[in-house]
Amino acid sequence: MIRKDIRSLSAYRVPGSDGMIKLDAMENPYPMPSALHQGWQDLLAEEGINRYPDADMAKLRGMIAELDGLEADQVLLGNGSDEIIQMLLMAADPGACAVPTPTFVMYELISRWVKRPVVTVRLDAEFQLDAQSLLRTCGREKAAIIFLACPNNPTGNMWPAETVRAITEGFRGLVVIDEAYRPFADRTHTNLIAPNVLVLRTFSKMGWAGLRLGYVLGDAGTISELNKVRLPYNINALTQASARFLLRHLKLFSTQCQRIVDERERIFEQLETIDGVRPYPSQANFILLRVRDANGMFDWLKMQHILVKNMHQAGGNLAGCLRLTVGTPEENDALLSAIREGVI
Ligand SMILES: Cc1ncc(COP(=O)(O)O)c(C=O)c1O
Repeated sequence: MIRKDIRSLSAYRVPGSDGMIKLDAMENPYPMPSALHQGWQDLLAEEGINRYPDADMAKLRGMIAELDGLEADQVLLGNGSDEIIQMLLMAADPGACAVPTPTFVMYELISRWVKRPVVTVRLDAEFQLDAQSLLRTCGREKAAIIFLACPNNPTGNMWPAETVRAITEGFRGLVVIDEAYRPFADRTHTNLIAPNVLVLRTFSKMGWAGLRLGYVLGDAGTISELNKVRLPYNINALTQASARFLLRHLKLFSTQCQRIVDERERIFEQLETIDGVRPYPSQANFILLRVRDANGMFDWLKMQHILVKNMHQAGGNLAGCLRLTVGTPEENDALLSAIREGVI
């Protein structure tokens, strides 16, 4: 009835977080600014949900394109960037999906759903990527698509510009540069956009995770091919209306993101002063932390009602690691004192 390989998978599990300080999912901890509430609610009330939503979304795509000085036909929208990863893996030429490891798990998971082989190239002990080794693997294994998360999840680091350039210049298949953490990073790769090079983004980390809106920027010809595997009404009417409204107030969200970056730097410096823990530099809204006993620290933090992501089970060079999402200053202070108390 159901494919054997699907039956052998586990469903994506989201842990319960009631009553916890939630620092496990790279969300923006700040709610929507109250100055926007009334205008937003009025707008949603006017939205005609008896009708299917706008399928083409030209206006919204235009507004998003403008943020990067691009055109509306260079933007494709997805129900979260997860959905765009799925579209890319369905539409790319036959051949393997190549990813560094560790990286964002959905590239591999969705590849399995669509029966696409996956090849991985290990990051070194400092989580650096060897571009030549990735390119050799792609050639040997006949890869058709590469995903490069910049900054990478869960390690938080950005690949050097030369590394990304070497990969885009040395690979003929699709190269997807995933900039999910763009609001917290110091550079973008939109200058590399070409018929086979795309830049993937999401509004999730900026404060709209609940809306589910991601997008990919690319060459207009490639975007129009990818659009053929997009479900007709993939972005619901309330998300579309909210995004058009919120994009006019983007500055408020950028300010929140800057606060998150400042807090990230503060936490990093504090973590560096604690014996027995090693934080890795990050350009995202989270910090990867190495501790002597990751399971013990994870359980201890949970007892203190703080939920972080335990990366230890992933094994390899993530053994001993936890991923901490940056929260509000108060949440971060609670996290730091709990780590100080719990460290062995
Ligand atoms: C690198 C990366 N890409 C994409 C996503 C998915 O984001 P979205 O919420 O837009 O589906 C995540 C989420 O954590 C991520 O870390």
